[in-house]
Amino acid sequence: MNFTILTFDTIDSTNTEALKQAKAGAKEGLCVVAREQTAGRGRHGRTWVSGKDAGLYFSLVLKPKLETQYLPLVTLMAGIAVHDTLAELGLAPDIKWVNDILVDERKIAGVLAETTETDDGVAVIVGIGINLRSTNFPPEIAASAASLEEAGVGSTVNLTERLTGHLAHFYEQLGTANGPTAIIDEWRRRSTYFSGKRVRVATGNDMLTGVTHGLEPNGALRVRKDDGSTSIIQAGDVERLRADCD
Ligand code: BTN
Repeated sequence: MNFTILTFDTIDSTNTEALKQAKAGAKEGLCVVAREQTAGRGRHGRTWVSGKDAGLYFSLVLKPKLETQYLPLVTLMAGIAVHDTLAELGLAPDIKWVNDILVDERKIAGVLAETTETDDGVAVIVGIGINLRSTNFPPEIAASAASLEEAGVGSTVNLTERLTGHLAHFYEQLGTANGPTAIIDEWRRRSTYFSGKRVRVATGNDMLTGVTHGLEPNGALRVRKDDGSTSIIQAGDVERLRADCD
């Protein structure tokens, strides 16, 4: 994939800009990067705090040639790429389903994938936020968030290049004949949440507790509940529970 990088000092949201660009005919590989976002978005309509130079704010336009059922795997693929980018910097990240990247159980990066119809078919915008500094974390996330600076990463030179390198690699893998299975397997190898983790999951209108039990072929999370039945989670927020405190 050829990457074209569009950089901004300040923007509302790199995802919003990438969505606009995709609608206007941007090719796969366009990346929007900003030093600051005034309306950064997280999953489930949350705000992504995006102070100047406090994070990497990055969005990539993709046009995956994938069966629709496998589109959610683009999100997992991006989580794997972020994981490996941070591992290359000397960290030992974990991935909490669906794509929160954690270091020492604190969130250091997140992925927000959004889709839009274009003349060229469906475009997926992969938005990635990586915390570089912790200075402007609001109090409500300070305890659960981490940053590269805090984790002792000295230099973040070439962070975008490293990230695009990993994205290109895993996106290509996803597009191969057994790509969906391979991506699930790559995810399994990087996430302690794949199986055996006691969790509470909040879906739109439901809350359940149980133990993770692998992923479905489309990346949905299987949770074995205490009554022995299994729930398939297509979207939701996962919270780790200590085995002895539910
Ligand atoms: C999450 O909730 O974990 C996802 C956070 C994604 C944040 C990134 S920052 C770059 C891109 N632009 C946005 O507005 N959001 C994503």
